[in-house]
Amino acid sequence: MSNRLFGVVYHENVNNWATAGLIEAIKAKGHTPMPFRLPDIAAQIPNKFIHLNEEDVSHMDGVLVRTIGFGTGDQITYRISLLEHLEDAGIYVMNPAYSFRRAKDKYATLTALNKAGIHVPRTYIGENLESAINFADEVGDVVIKPLIGARGMGMIRAEHRELTYRAMKFIHQLGQVLYVQELIEKPDRDIRAFVIGGELIGAMYRYVPDIEGEWRTNVHGGGEAEVTELSPEYEECALKTAEVLNLDYTGVDIIESKDGPCVIEANAAPSWSALSRVTGLDIAGLIIDQLVKQCKR
Ligand SMILES: Nc1ncnc2c1ncn2[C@@H]1O[C@H](COP(=O)(O)OP(=O)(O)O)[C@@H](O)[C@H]1O
Ligand SMILES: [Mg+2]
Repeated sequence: MSNRLFGVVYHENVNNWATAGLIEAIKAKGHTPMPFRLPDIAAQIPNKFIHLNEEDVSHMDGVLVRTIGFGTGDQITYRISLLEHLEDAGIYVMNPAYSFRRAKDKYATLTALNKAGIHVPRTYIGENLESAINFADEVGDVVIKPLIGARGMGMIRAEHRELTYRAMKFIHQLGQVLYVQELIEKPDRDIRAFVIGGELIGAMYRYVPDIEGEWRTNVHGGGEAEVTELSPEYEECALKTAEVLNLDYTGVDIIESKDGPCVIEANAAPSWSALSRVTGLDIAGLIIDQLVKQCKR
């Protein structure tokens, strides 16, 4: 097995549990990890990539992206273009640049899934307060989410028209896009399905934590996890979601609605602490195996 050089893109904290696990897995498999932040790399045209320590890193075999960080519109646009440039230069980016960007954006995700016939919640996306209110009036109970968010943070479940209206007004005044979604009736749990390389490697139920008024199941919010087998219908839904979104590895969030599986998002850089705990799988190792496989193409 030849030694390969793999970039690992982090932003704030290289000691983040998942990032550190991936770096260790790269080493354990006889390769060399190179953690960097996207702002640490400068691109030159034609295809050359220079690290801020002056080192030419254009010979990287692959890049594993965990986050592109926060920034201005300019910085985010640049960082996405940088990932695309790395790809153009023949460096395998995982998850692929476009897939990563799309999965970060709940709007673009649901559009692609709906087109492929996957059940997703009815959702309003727009910058117009009045039409958002009309949508909420029509749908009834809604969830207002940040367009780009994670760990269940910043979500508002609004069951009263007055609260819905106030929340949307503030979001609108802050210059944020309104993302308003029907609240799906579900049991006190939902499903996290982990797919790597087109295979379901494990799935778990995530339960709503025992906190008054809580309704989200995010493990970061204290939700309990329990390993489960998926029925063929749910497995097919998870696999199809990963395929449609072209994600080499992903954690798919699925709600058990009365009409069957309903996908709310697919994470392009999922964490797996709960899943590895309940399944005993070496998930970081499986992700790196997939990266090595993709780079062989
Ligand atoms: N439309 C919805 N109906 C019912 N519950 C929802 C809905 N959207 C989200 N949730 C709950 O909130 C959690 C977080 O939502 P999600 O869209 O996955 O955002 P995040 O990116 O913050 O994880 C989900 O795991 C689920 O438990
Ligand atoms: Mg989620």
